[in-house]
Parts: sequence; structure tokens; C-alpha cells
Amino acid sequence: MRHRVVIGITGASGAIYGVRLVSLALEHFDEVYLCVSALGRQVLETEMGLDVAEMTRRLRDAGPSRGELILADPDDMFSPPASGSFRHSGMAIAPCSMGTAGRIASGVSDGLIARAGDVCLKERRPLVLIVRETPLSVVHLRNLTTLAEAGATVMPACPAFYHHPRTIEEAVDTVVHRALQHLGADVPGAREWRAEDQTVKGEG
Ligand SMILES: Cc1cc2nc3c(=O)[nH]c(=O)nc-3n(C[C@H](O)[C@H](O)[C@H](O)COP(=O)(O)O)c2cc1C
Repeated sequence: MRHRVVIGITGASGAIYGVRLVSLALEHFDEVYLCVSALGRQVLETEMGLDVAEMTRRLRDAGPSRGELILADPDDMFSPPASGSFRHSGMAIAPCSMGTAGRIASGVSDGLIARAGDVCLKERRPLVLIVRETPLSVVHLRNLTTLAEAGATVMPACPAFYHHPRTIEEAVDTVVHRALQHLGADVPGAREWRAEDQTVKGEG
């Protein structure tokens, strides 16, 4: 069976999380279904100067990758990820707005991203939400708690700094690598805390 993953990019700040996630997912999965919300497109343009066509062109031109990138229309409820019968390894939404989190938490499947997230919960498949908002209101916190209780992994867009990232990409990847691992991917580039030190000590 082909290994498929579904990725949503919504209109929270941090479009780079979505772009890096798609880029790395193409190395680990056979098929990457990508759906970008209307606001996701606008924030991508604002933050990275990219429209979706240009982003996908760059990703496809980046070199040979394992995966095939398939673009899905956010209004197309006839797209495969809208149905539980379409089997895949899970879904990540990066960045995930509080609007989309709220829609999934309340079962409002009014677009493909919210519906595909809802499907993951009902089918008990991994759903990783790289949420981004600050500060968080009680409404946000309640919605995130509901999502965690329903089985989603709520993974705030909070990079780790203990590996001393030198670029924004390296910082973003500390989150993206974890998201891929939660989707079942083996990510050789993901660094582990002090694992290298232990290897050196073990050799001595
Ligand atoms: C530049 C910009 C940045 C935004 N950043 C955030 C954010 O960090 N988190 C958030 O929840 N919403 C943010 N929003 C608001 C969402 O885009 C808005 O709630 C939208 O309706 C979300 O729709 P979507 O989830 O379908 O993409 C931002 C909007 C703009 C224009």
C-alpha cells in the first residue's frame, strides 16, 4: 500500500511550518495531499511572498523526492481525504489557526481541512495540530482540550532552542520533525537530546 499523508495549511502566522512540513513529508511518504485554506494562501503570500502555485513548483523542482504532491481544493468535499474510506497515515495542520481548531473541536466540517481533521478523529488516525496563537483565550484552551481528548496531538508552534538553531528553518524543523514522527515517519535528521553525548561516553 502507498504511504499517504494529508497536510493542511491554514491562516495562522507561521506559513513556513507548513512549507517545511510539505517539503520533508515528500521525503517520507509516497503521496502528500496538500490543502491550503483561503486565509492560508493569503498569509503564505504575506509572510513568504509565495502563492500556492509557486510554492508547489519550488517543492517539485527541489530535486527527486519519494513523494507525489497532490493539491486539494479547500472547498472540494469530493476530494479523497473527505472520506474515511480513503486510507492514509494521518493528517497534520501546520500552522493551525484557532478558527480551524475550533471548527474541528465542534465538528463543523464546513471545508475540506476541517472535514479531513474530523475524519481522522472518527477513524482514530493521527491528527497533529501545529497550533499558533498567543495569548490563548479560555475558548481556545477549551477547544484544544476537546481536541486532545478526542485523540488529536496538539503541538504548539514552539521551537526548541537547546540544539542552538542557527536559522529560522532549523528552529522550525525542531517542530516539524516531531510532527512527522507523530505521523509515523522515521526522521533521521531529527536530533535527540544528548543522544550524541551518550554515544561518545559509551565509546570511552
Ligand atoms: C497576517 C495574519 C496572521 C494571522 N495569524 C493568526 C494566528 O497566528 N493564529 C490564528 O488563530 N489566527 C490568525 N489569523 C486569523 C486567521 O487567518 C482567521 O481566523 C481565519 O479566518 C482562519 O481561517 P482558516 O482557519 O480557514 O485558515 C491571522 C490572520 C492574518 C491576516
